[in-house]
Amino acid sequence: MLMDKTMGLELKMPDLGNLTESAQPLECRVALISADRQLAGDWVNALNATAAQHENPFGLCFEAVTPAGVERLVQEEDNLQALIVDGGCDAQSLEAADELADRIHGLRSQLNIFLVAHGSLAGAGTAPQAAPSAQSLANLRQRFDELFDRREGNFNHMFRLVQAFIARRASTPFADTLKEYVFSARDAWHTPGHSGGDSLRNSPWVGDFYRFMGEHVFNTDLSVSVQVLDSLLEPHSVIQEAQDLAAQAFGARHTFFLTNGTSTANKVVIQQILGGGGKIIVDQACHKSVHHAIVMNRCEPVYLKSVLHPEFGIYGPVKRSDIEQALDEHSDARLLVITSCTYDGLRYDLKPIIDYAHERGVKVLVDEAWFAHGYFHPELRPTALECGADYVTQSTHKMLSAFSQASMIHVQDPDFDEFRFRENLNMHASTSPQYAMIASLDVARKQMAMEGYSRLKQCLQMVDTLRRAVDETGVFRALTRDDLIAEPLANDNIRLDPTKVTIDISASGYSGKEMQIKLFDQYGIQVEKTTYNTVTVLVTLGSTESKLLRLIHALKQLARNTRKRGHIASARKLPEFTHFNCLPADAYFAETEELPLMDNGVEATRNLVGRTCADEIVPYPPGIPVLVPGQEISTQIVQFLQQLLQGQNTTEIHGLIFRSDEPMLRVVKEDAPQASPKKAAGKKSGR
Ligand SMILES: Cc1ncc(COP(=O)(O)O)c(C=O)c1O
Repeated sequence: MLMDKTMGLELKMPDLGNLTESAQPLECRVALISADRQLAGDWVNALNATAAQHENPFGLCFEAVTPAGVERLVQEEDNLQALIVDGGCDAQSLEAADELADRIHGLRSQLNIFLVAHGSLAGAGTAPQAAPSAQSLANLRQRFDELFDRREGNFNHMFRLVQAFIARRASTPFADTLKEYVFSARDAWHTPGHSGGDSLRNSPWVGDFYRFMGEHVFNTDLSVSVQVLDSLLEPHSVIQEAQDLAAQAFGARHTFFLTNGTSTANKVVIQQILGGGGKIIVDQACHKSVHHAIVMNRCEPVYLKSVLHPEFGIYGPVKRSDIEQALDEHSDARLLVITSCTYDGLRYDLKPIIDYAHERGVKVLVDEAWFAHGYFHPELRPTALECGADYVTQSTHKMLSAFSQASMIHVQDPDFDEFRFRENLNMHASTSPQYAMIASLDVARKQMAMEGYSRLKQCLQMVDTLRRAVDETGVFRALTRDDLIAEPLANDNIRLDPTKVTIDISASGYSGKEMQIKLFDQYGIQVEKTTYNTVTVLVTLGSTESKLLRLIHALKQLARNTRKRGHIASARKLPEFTHFNCLPADAYFAETEELPLMDNGVEATRNLVGRTCADEIVPYPPGIPVLVPGQEISTQIVQFLQQLLQGQNTTEIHGLIFRSDEPMLRVVKEDAPQASPKKAAGKKSGR
């Protein structure tokens, strides 16, 4: 709504002090779209003359464009920040302007769009023509940031209004206040104890750390005692304003900042919907924070099976038919949790899945930890929010310019209970958040709102260059969407986030781990992750042409030094999930004992099979649990774990306890009252 876009924030002029520090002078192009060349020419001249006479820190310059050229302009002109669309003098032209605005938003979600219309058509006065319906008027008010009457003569005001909207998008209310506070150099008689770094600065022992980190790491590390910086746990001023701007930028109704990562964000949302218990449908490959939330909230999980790609050892999404079947079979489920995109960049076709869940009264949380950039380039859309997700969690730090641990929760649940949410969030959040992290969320949002499209365009160009260069080595191969989609997912319209580039290295004769070490030791390149025969690199806003050059050079060199294929373990299929003997929480908190996993394999197996596991057991890679608390241990699972421990390629199995180097599993004591099978819920809910 128009009111939402302007309410709550003063439309302040930009801070010129900030702008003079920017690397290049700013240029913001504003296109005036009209088929009426006379009007367009007159207005553009008048607006440019106004810009020349007034303070113009953003470098606003106006140009006339015909409707036919708009889409090309929107895609090619990186400095374009706003459009003024002529809605003509009749209802038909107005409708065309409305459709055009919709298409522009589809291409670039962040541009400001203004409508010029005959006052009567836009709802003022008596219409000479057929007046638009109340509904289409409401749509107009939503689609456009502001309306101008075609008979407008005050170009000063028009210029200022366009500038004010751009200024609002470019503002960083929290980051600016933090900077102002630091520069106001107040005396600190409050936490943190280093007091702006004063405790370290002159120390012969730790002064080097102060100098290494830099003064602003310390003097921006403040506390809730500084009231002008608002409170993350109860925001009313600058943090709230920053969150409102983020909600607008990411297309949410509400946005909440977190300084404890998406690990915490997932727990907050699950507690919001399922605090105290209830049924949750989750994919087995979901992040461990979801499994933790299941224990913490005494939830009853229905696990969905992620599809393994047999050749590359990559776990992809869950088959859509499996999700629908689970929703049909568990009409009492309250939340569906989906990870999209996955670590490897595989994205669900979310809309039909979310609609299916909503038709059955199930809320949907989409874990977009790896997809905070999705809304800012058309090749990556639609996002989960655009597909109707109720809650979306994003690690802003993973792909955008925020500090580690800085995350956001976006909400558009129509039944959202904000008071309860605040309590849930506060239960998980620290009362001493890192202020630099909050500022980095504010700045990361601004960057995406102002230049997200152009920066992602550059990323995607880099991805193309990288892919081509990888393929040209003749040894390495950049995997395409089709390569990464296992056969059972062929008809699920799965997409690929191209910024995650997975390279098949099988023909080199080296394993993923070996290649990772070679890249690091010989070329100083650290990759994101590996599987047995793949290496994945992330192309982010921070990827540069020079880094790309070095990576391509390294791959070309390595392609010349292949070896005869040694023994490389292939992807192991995880054993089937067994059933639950009790709720995960009952098992986790029950009286337990530790049983050996390896010693005299046969006996260990005999002792363990049929017992209830109390912990989550997760081999890496691929980081998917083979056991979760409450699950019955099967022969297949024990043998799988034994083989992993005997093999050479397993790096870690989380959840095992090592007693004098002996791997042990924690299982529920057979007579433990807390976890008696009588209490088991959904015995067959494990799939
Ligand atoms: C799918 C998924 N969700 C959530 C998280 C947790 O995110 P964070 O590191 O921000 O806590 C991760 C981390 O890797 C993840 O892969």
